[in-house]
Amino acid sequence: MSGHGTPIPMTARKSPPLRGVAEVPGDKSISHRALIFGAMAVGETRITGLLEGQDVLDTAAAMRAFGAEVVQHGPGDWSVFGVGVGGFAEPDRVIDCGNSGTGARLIMGAMATCPITVTFTGDASLTKRPMGRVTDPLALFGTRAVGRAGGRLPMTLVGAADPVPVRYTVPMPSAQVKSAVLLAGLNAPGQTVVVEREPTRDHTERMLRGFGAELTVEDTPEGRVITLTGQPELRPLDVAVPRDPSSAAFPVCAALMVPDSDILVPGVSQNPTRNGIYLTLVDMGADIAFENPREEGGEPVADLRVRFGPLKGVTVPPERAASMIDEYPVLAALAATAQGTTVMRGVKELRVKESDRIDAMARGLEACGVRIEETEDSLTVHGMASVPGGATVASHLDHRIAMAFVCLGLVAEKPIRVDDASPIATSFPLFEGLMTGLGAQVARDNG
Ligand code: S3P
Repeated sequence: MSGHGTPIPMTARKSPPLRGVAEVPGDKSISHRALIFGAMAVGETRITGLLEGQDVLDTAAAMRAFGAEVVQHGPGDWSVFGVGVGGFAEPDRVIDCGNSGTGARLIMGAMATCPITVTFTGDASLTKRPMGRVTDPLALFGTRAVGRAGGRLPMTLVGAADPVPVRYTVPMPSAQVKSAVLLAGLNAPGQTVVVEREPTRDHTERMLRGFGAELTVEDTPEGRVITLTGQPELRPLDVAVPRDPSSAAFPVCAALMVPDSDILVPGVSQNPTRNGIYLTLVDMGADIAFENPREEGGEPVADLRVRFGPLKGVTVPPERAASMIDEYPVLAALAATAQGTTVMRGVKELRVKESDRIDAMARGLEACGVRIEETEDSLTVHGMASVPGGATVASHLDHRIAMAFVCLGLVAEKPIRVDDASPIATSFPLFEGLMTGLGAQVARDNG
């Protein structure tokens, strides 16, 4: 759970060159999935490199509540003893997904075709986010949902006792919705088909195959057609979680902002459904070497050597949005320091993340003296030779907003204060130590 504690204000100041090795934590998307799929397999799934952020810990607690045994052996080293597809027990408590949309939506899918009733809740951010995008397709399986107006948590789902398979075209680019439908399809007889018009992160498809599910993917004029054969016996898998490209983007962009920086970020996933930020940084003229490309845990990874250099503003191709959807906050911060204008279009999904990220970045950048323009589905940032800073910005319970402004504070003329950095613990618990280890001047206000 997050967002229930005392706010942690954090201030970032103009810093010397960043130097050193930045070992970022395990991938959040893969960590959630490893726990959930492990809980749906029969036997022991061993996970190494698990992200021990609060979002993932909340998912681990949820899996225990459904009857799986989840054990931590050491840092990042976990086992899940699963109960099998359709084997979830009815939890005797409310499932609190904290700050995590991924946790809530994937777990809803996983329980939707089990004959159990489950109540979900979350923190002040998650209870504002739309769940109808998941409960609408789950209703096609026979799942019933009763929640607050607008499909908000808290919400109770009554799983389908006699589920039917489904064919569903996902109306928005969302890996969470795609994954929820596929997870529900696991315990439905016959074939469940999900069509996505725009490709989104494909960890669910990759990992379901790894766990032994029969799943095919076909590129058609209609989009990516994913066909899953229901009621497999999932077999346990050893999952080595690669480092998170979304978390890596923070030290990478910080090094591109702070003059004379030179850092190494090893073992970062370069999955093509996740690497849009790195393509964009290269378009901006960033000096990034993708060294030692290899495969780890079924994902392509590389060591990123990042050196400071002048960047130019770009127009990000809208079709790239899904592959870098979580990186727009830090890109917007970086764009404030580039020469010229950066235009980000086709990004209205940012409005329903942990916060309304277009609004949060726009207001925060304005407070720091940066010129922006915003529409319902775009954000434009005008770069400047020197960002004034000298403001307190609101993180809105959003880890990525908090980290983006910490990065910008490292080059602003006057310090930037983030009103509450506590949400950073949801995805990147060691962020502050990692950044100060590189030389960043970051400190909690009272600690
Ligand atoms: C995620 C999918 C994305 C992303 C989120 C993680 C996932 O959300 O923003 O941080 O693990 O499936 P949407 O599916 O809502 O786009």
